Amino acid sequence: MTDTDNNKNLMPQHIAVVMDGNGRWANKRLLPRTAGHKAGVKSTRRIVELCARKGVRALTLFAFSSENWNRPEQEVSGLMSLFVSTLNSEITKLEQQGVRIRFIGDRSRFHDKLQHSIAQAENKTARNDLLQLNIAANYGGRWDIVNAARKLAQKIAEGELTPDQVTEESFAMELALADLPEPDLFIRTGGEQRISNFLLWQSAYSELYFTDTLWPDFDEEHFNDALLCYSKRQRRFGKTGKQIEEEQVKAV
Ligand code: FPP
Repeated sequence: MTDTDNNKNLMPQHIAVVMDGNGRWANKRLLPRTAGHKAGVKSTRRIVELCARKGVRALTLFAFSSENWNRPEQEVSGLMSLFVSTLNSEITKLEQQGVRIRFIGDRSRFHDKLQHSIAQAENKTARNDLLQLNIAANYGGRWDIVNAARKLAQKIAEGELTPDQVTEESFAMELALADLPEPDLFIRTGGEQRISNFLLWQSAYSELYFTDTLWPDFDEEHFNDALLCYSKRQRRFGKTGKQIEEEQVKAV
């Protein structure tokens, strides 16, 4: 039990993670990059369990970006096989744990076997509501925004909507994860300090947390460090620190 377990108000409701550093983890051990991704799956399993235990409502993981197709073919096909085998081996446990799994991104480019495993995992866990686990696969934030713009344009073309009804609210409703609160905490492992086209719109007010720890090494202690750091941030959403403090006094 940690400080953050005890105080739900200081806990993020939605956490987004860029799981970076698998390749370097493997390189350091003179192993193939795919071994790093396999080790990354263990870390993924661990963070899902931790989030479920700590009462986090939603966890969104960047598993494969639209740009990752540019990697060597062997690594891409290794990742695809890993996704299929992980989904097939984990799904019963996720179902029992109360986790609902959903994929965001353009899945049409994945081979049939993977599309089938994705659909099966989503269907099997559809009634769960303890933790919403979103896997971003062949996802890009710009793709998400363009997709939403296209849907709104279609509605306007069909006379369902007028141009002045295009607002931040109606736009956000067409994005992936529209039904969830935006991520409170955005974690990136592996030492890089950038967003890399992940949840561009949705992370406008997320607290960013960057760590040098490589994804396969990101354990409970590292996760607690991130949560502790988050709990100390003052989220102002454009207001002044004084306004926030006054609001907090009024709320007590
Ligand atoms: C980035 O590290 C990691 C990926 C592109 C793959 C992440 C995928 C997993 C951890 C598997 C998760 C599985 C499921 C089913 C959700 P990198 O290869 O860019 O590392 P590097 O920067 O050290 O090269």
